[in-house]
Amino acid sequence: MSKQFDVVVIGGGPGGYIAAIRAAQLGFNVACVDEWKNSKGGPALGGTCTNVGCIPSKALLQSSEHFEHAGHAFEDHGIKVENLSLDLARMLARKDAVVKQNNDGIVYLFKKNKIAFFHGRASFVKSTDAGYEIAVAGSADDTLVGKHVIVATGSNARPLPGAPFDEENILSNDGALRIGGVPKKLCLIGSGVIGLEMGSVWRRLGAEVTVLEALPTFLGAVDEQIAKEAKKAFDKQGLKIELGVKVGEIKSSKKGVSIAWTDAKGEAKTLDVDKLIVSIGRVPNTVGLQAEAVGLKLDERGAIEVDADCKTNLPNVWAIGDVVRGPMLAHKAEEEGVAVAERIAGQHGHVNFNTVPWVIYTSPEIAWVGQTEKQLKESGRAYKTGSFPFLANGRARALGDTTGLVKFIADAETDEILGVHMVGPQVSELISEAVVAMEFKASSEDIARICHAHPSLSEATKEAALAVEKRTLNF
Ligand code: FAD
Ligand code: NAI
Repeated sequence: MSKQFDVVVIGGGPGGYIAAIRAAQLGFNVACVDEWKNSKGGPALGGTCTNVGCIPSKALLQSSEHFEHAGHAFEDHGIKVENLSLDLARMLARKDAVVKQNNDGIVYLFKKNKIAFFHGRASFVKSTDAGYEIAVAGSADDTLVGKHVIVATGSNARPLPGAPFDEENILSNDGALRIGGVPKKLCLIGSGVIGLEMGSVWRRLGAEVTVLEALPTFLGAVDEQIAKEAKKAFDKQGLKIELGVKVGEIKSSKKGVSIAWTDAKGEAKTLDVDKLIVSIGRVPNTVGLQAEAVGLKLDERGAIEVDADCKTNLPNVWAIGDVVRGPMLAHKAEEEGVAVAERIAGQHGHVNFNTVPWVIYTSPEIAWVGQTEKQLKESGRAYKTGSFPFLANGRARALGDTTGLVKFIADAETDEILGVHMVGPQVSELISEAVVAMEFKASSEDIARICHAHPSLSEATKEAALAVEKRTLNF
């Protein structure tokens, strides 16, 4: 017999599990189906983000940064570390434990909110008068019927043609997070977010890292000044980033991986490495969903087609997160999940795409919200800018990390903040102030007039806002 629900959520990543919780808070009878398996075959709620994305990558970024600091930065603070060594197995085990805490946390939240969880693959069967019939193929096969369905099936790593992932030599984000020994030589193809974060992890742990990027510009979506500053820092760290390359044949053998490539000048080269991480973007995941069984429409990229409110072409079927248009970010997926649950309840859920922050968790960190100078030039909007370097910030000096700057872009006439761009220490946290300011349509003067604690990195934000009117106090 089928089980009837008001809302069935397919996918238990940050989009799906948050949508399920919000729908349950709003009084709906909710089920969530997720197929992710842990190493023992059991459920592992949290999707890509928790299992092979945001959480494990940040755990390894933290551990590898500690290792690098112990080896290089501590001495400057008068701390001597002798016979420093790496216990990679323990570092990876800690990362796995952090992942498990997050998996377990979601199980707890489902219980607390009385959400029925089904472990297995969900596929559409048919549309009936009672709602959409969904088959779950898992440890116990089930059939669910949902009046509303929220599809949150996420994305998968995009492989390079002719070089499928084997997770031994040619790694996706999954294999990249569990290499059993530090590779002597590592290549990453794609210098996007994963390329830089995972490249940083393994470089800090001792690998010689080369990143091959097809585009001629570094981090093209990032404000040019910020990208330049970041590139300078990565070059200094020894992260070799080759821009404007063309990747050719890739041969994998027991000895490692051989990559044929052509540099920006057209010179043919070969790179022999122990491991290759391919980080050239992700593709929306609708594998096994049987979208065609109910006529759910996909676009030419394979993403589920939705309007601005995450409505699909089918009544009462919604889609959110990485499987639809827009940035592939956990917090964007979460916001869409909340908004859809509220829309199902007849409320006016809203996601402001202009204020979705981006963070790259390298060292220095890179964070931004809103528009870049390039975008504003293209749109013809007049603007003014102000920036402030961490070099002139007392807290940054005390921390021993003065790389980078904060930059404001504001409307030339109204002074409304149009974008805030940062590179430097802990800017992943500092960016929130800029997001709040933009949500409240603040001017740069509003931030410049707010009292910021001293000494704190956030003073750089205030000073950059002051710089818009050319009145910094400490620079
Ligand atoms: P997912 O998290 O992919 O979850 C989808 C879930 O649906 C999965 O559990 C999947 O098994 C399940 N599923 C799929 N099909 C079915 C089916 N038919 N039946 C049942 N279950 C199904 N974003 C950030 O914002 N910050 C970061 O720091 C960050 N770091 C990242 C690091 C890496 C290495 C990677 C790869 C990604 C990172 N991201 C980060 C992106 C982030 O992980 C995604 O944007 C986010 O996970 C998308 O959430 P989602 O709910 O749409 O999909
Ligand atoms: P990405 O889109 O960030 O970067 C891919 C890079 O690969 C681009 O620079 C692209 O020009 C390059 N590329 C594409 N094809 C190529 C080829 N054939 N040869 C060489 N270079 C090529 O994708 P990435 O790094 O795989 O990450 C996927 C997504 O996951 C991100 O876009 C982001 O949405 C999410 N993510 C977010 C993180 C965060 O928020 N901190 C961390 C990691 C991932």
